[in-house]
Amino acid sequence: MTDHYAVVGNPVAHSMSPAIHAEFARQTGQDIDYMRLLAPLDGFAACIADFRARGGKGVNVTLPFKHEAWNFVTAHAGYALNAGAVNTIDFRDGKIIGYNTDGIGLVRDIKENLQCAIQDKRVLLLGAGGATYGVMEPLLREHPEQLVVANRTVQKAVALVGHFEKLQNFSINGVLATPYHELRQSKFDIVINATSAGLNDEMPSLPSGIFAPGALAYDMVYGKHTPFIKFAAEYGAKISDGTGMLSEQAAESFFVWRGVRPDTAPVIALLKREA
Ligand code: ATR
Repeated sequence: MTDHYAVVGNPVAHSMSPAIHAEFARQTGQDIDYMRLLAPLDGFAACIADFRARGGKGVNVTLPFKHEAWNFVTAHAGYALNAGAVNTIDFRDGKIIGYNTDGIGLVRDIKENLQCAIQDKRVLLLGAGGATYGVMEPLLREHPEQLVVANRTVQKAVALVGHFEKLQNFSINGVLATPYHELRQSKFDIVINATSAGLNDEMPSLPSGIFAPGALAYDMVYGKHTPFIKFAAEYGAKISDGTGMLSEQAAESFFVWRGVRPDTAPVIALLKREA
């Protein structure tokens, strides 16, 4: 019998997740169906509850509902607990379990696909919204030498660092919050853009000397040559968009639901061809 899954968001029409999961299902021989669900901005909980009542086995959650999903689930697993955001829900055994696979996806893409170690590196994370919360713990567990969180509204970066400092089950060392203008004297080995600026063809105001020799510039936005990526290429950094992260977080969700780990390489190649 076919098991049903969906991605819930608003907007959701652009989501590549149905194509990705269809390829994973084909590859692994899993009998699943995966659709898009557009939830009204004030109707996330009702939309999920309805999908579950109709026999849905699980959902991915995308903008702007990841925080609401965290409150909706009845248990948190893996990185979801500390992230305060959920992108994967499993309806197994009558439970509603929330996971966050975004950070795993990012780290796996950087380390395995891009062959760039994070350990002992100076890492700069741009932005202090939901996307940043989702990747903080997996990044810190790689033990970078330093992790600096920079944000246009510096109070939000300070609040984010404060959130992770207060956690009982997790300790953070060498993490700093800063506004962009204080980055003038600094250099980083990995610069990750977790802001939504690229979606509006904008970028955070970074100094041109921000990239250490051989640095990696990573934009979580996918399928778009963002101003940040253009800037990084101009100043000699290696560049990557978020296509690999998208595929890896999906693979981790697929693993949560099905217990089978699909091969992401064909999906990444397909998405890059279509971009
Ligand atoms: P998400 O859940 O995708 O992180 P969000 O919570 O709305 O979305 O956060 C968006 C992030 O992008 C914020 O860090 C925001 O900075 P502010 O907190 O100062 O608003 C950042 N951002 C969006 N547009 C930006 C721009 N043009 N320049 C710099 N930062 C930008």
